[in-house]
Amino acid sequence: MKNRFFNVAIDGPAGAGKSTVARRTAEALGFVYVDTGSIYRTVALAVSERGLSCADEAAIGVLLKETRVELQWQDGVQHNYLNGDDVTDRIRTPEISEAASRVSALPAVREFLLETQRAVARSNSVIMDGRDIGTVVLPEADVKIYLTASAETRAARRCKELREKGIDTRLDDVLREIEERDYRDMHRKIAPLRRAEDAVLLDTSSLTLVQSVDETTKIIREKLGL
Ligand code: DC
Repeated sequence: MKNRFFNVAIDGPAGAGKSTVARRTAEALGFVYVDTGSIYRTVALAVSERGLSCADEAAIGVLLKETRVELQWQDGVQHNYLNGDDVTDRIRTPEISEAASRVSALPAVREFLLETQRAVARSNSVIMDGRDIGTVVLPEADVKIYLTASAETRAARRCKELREKGIDTRLDDVLREIEERDYRDMHRKIAPLRRAEDAVLLDTSSLTLVQSVDETTKIIREKLGL
């Protein structure tokens, strides 16, 4: 029988718990978890190392011609490589979050990363999380979930996460940052963040992490008949 790979798309705004929920659900189902935000972060790092403005599409287009972004999985953990260097840890700063949101609005960047994402989905059963997976990257995905939570809930969660890492932050600052990022991600011209018509909506505002994982796993199992 022909190999059949399942593709699950999980989209939603920043801080909705997508990555943790998607990762744990992938573990439960034995699928590969693909974090697509990280590849925009990797491009943002390349742009920032070169000292380019995130708005300079022409210069970024030239840079992309000599840039390699690769994904590898080590013990189930995704590692991102920029021109052969493992940059997995270096792309998790607030500066890179901001730059990733800006460069991800550029058509040249989205086009550059499209095939990287599709190639993984062609040869693996994946749970891929991002903003446009169900709408653009994998429009034929077997299951689509739009995972969201109120901006206030997301800000409170992010604040707690940062504080646990010893980074002191004010809730209003985090909330403002989240609202700005949402606005940019939802209003960009190309591949804006939106719920695909056939995506199941899951609001995690009043769910714990464990409940969110249970819920997504249930939705996926039911749809795939697993
Ligand atoms: O999920 P994240 O915070 O790591 O994503 C970083 C940025 O990348 C986010 O502001 C929007 C962008 N992004 C995107 O445009 N499309 C995706 N599929 C994933 C992320």
